[in-house]
Amino acid sequence: KKGSYDHFMQKEIHEQPHSLTTTMRGRLKDGGVLLGGLKEHLKTIRRSRRVVFIGCGTSYNAALAARTFLEELSGIPVTMEVASDLLDRQGPIYRDDTAVFVSQSGETADTLLALDYALENGALCVGITNTVGSSLSRKTHCGIHINAGCEIGVASTKAYTSQIVVMAMMALAIGSDQISSQARREAIISGLSSLPRYASEVLKLDSEMKELASSLIDSESLLVFGRGYNYATALEGALKVKEVALMHSEGMLAGEMKHGPLALVDENLPIIVIATRDACFSKQKSVIQQLLSRKGRLIVMCSKGDASVVSPSGSCRLIEVPEVADCLQPVINIIPLQLLAYHLTVLRGFNVDQPRNLAKSVTTQ
Ligand code: UD1
Ligand code: BG6
Ligand code: NA
Repeated sequence: KKGSYDHFMQKEIHEQPHSLTTTMRGRLKDGGVLLGGLKEHLKTIRRSRRVVFIGCGTSYNAALAARTFLEELSGIPVTMEVASDLLDRQGPIYRDDTAVFVSQSGETADTLLALDYALENGALCVGITNTVGSSLSRKTHCGIHINAGCEIGVASTKAYTSQIVVMAMMALAIGSDQISSQARREAIISGLSSLPRYASEVLKLDSEMKELASSLIDSESLLVFGRGYNYATALEGALKVKEVALMHSEGMLAGEMKHGPLALVDENLPIIVIATRDACFSKQKSVIQQLLSRKGRLIVMCSKGDASVVSPSGSCRLIEVPEVADCLQPVINIIPLQLLAYHLTVLRGFNVDQPRNLAKSVTTQ
């Protein structure tokens, strides 16, 4: 049921304060994290030589958003695999690997084939899925249900933010034996409990994003530059724009800008730069300066109160978002980009919930 909404994608975007709440329900306890599905396996995970994240599409992007904080809180190296590419390469998976499979539906063929492959190779296989009873949930050794509620729009939105939150809780649980990072973990846990409130706040940008969309309807292309925690936000924002609004869009690592993408910059090509507060902020400010000096048409996403810092002459359009704990910022930052993709699709007259040629769940290879 869409209720008062025009489309499922719109409903699911606006549902995020609630879906984030249900994802965390019963799992943040006594200042710590309790994940029933993992607790028996934490010791094995801590002993593993590597964590490999495996997924497709939006689920891959969610894992990428989690990579940095999982490495930080667990001290274990994390590598990323697109499921089909792991299979194409028959890439190495070892007995002392923890392979984490991320899939909203739990039925994506490539992800399930990669799971069979990792099981054959003897890795501990962990599932992160929205679907209780799915093939992924059944075939993995253990895992975590994201409990975001049924997602109907083909473009994944609320599952993405809930997947990141589940992986944040997983990182906290794995790292919970480390005394040196106790204060950091406490800060993240308190950040998690305030996320639903900040998600509600950032959703108030809806009409601003509609206005921004109307200024972009005739563009041929849209670039999104991110780095660090928000490289995934750039990829996922661009994926939303291309899959539903049917507009060419690429997410790019800002650190790679000079090695190619800079050649595209002119007065016409719209570029979103994600420059919210974190350890990469000063580097992103210098990216903005370099793009402005080439007359780039910029839309800057910054933390509330930073407008004058990132856009000294008022020369960029701004998306101001509430600041949360740095590693959780991707959960907030993607929401305006989901809204932008949604409005762009409606204004361009395309099918929001069933984009041409795409399926919610790709169950064939
Ligand atoms: C579980 C119950 C939940 C109940 C809670 C109370 C289920 C599905 N969940 O939630 O209803 O309120 O206990 O303590 O009954 N698993 C996999 N692979 C996956 C995902 C999960 O093997 O991809 C396994 C887990 O290891 C676990 C089980 O499925 O054994 C349930 O996982 P999850 O729902 O995340 O566990 P709880 O949050 O403890
Ligand atoms: C399809 C969907 O391509 O599968 C995407 O259209 C989704 O939205 C991708 O991200 C992966 O799906 P899942 O269910 O494995 O997360
Ligand atoms: Na299982």
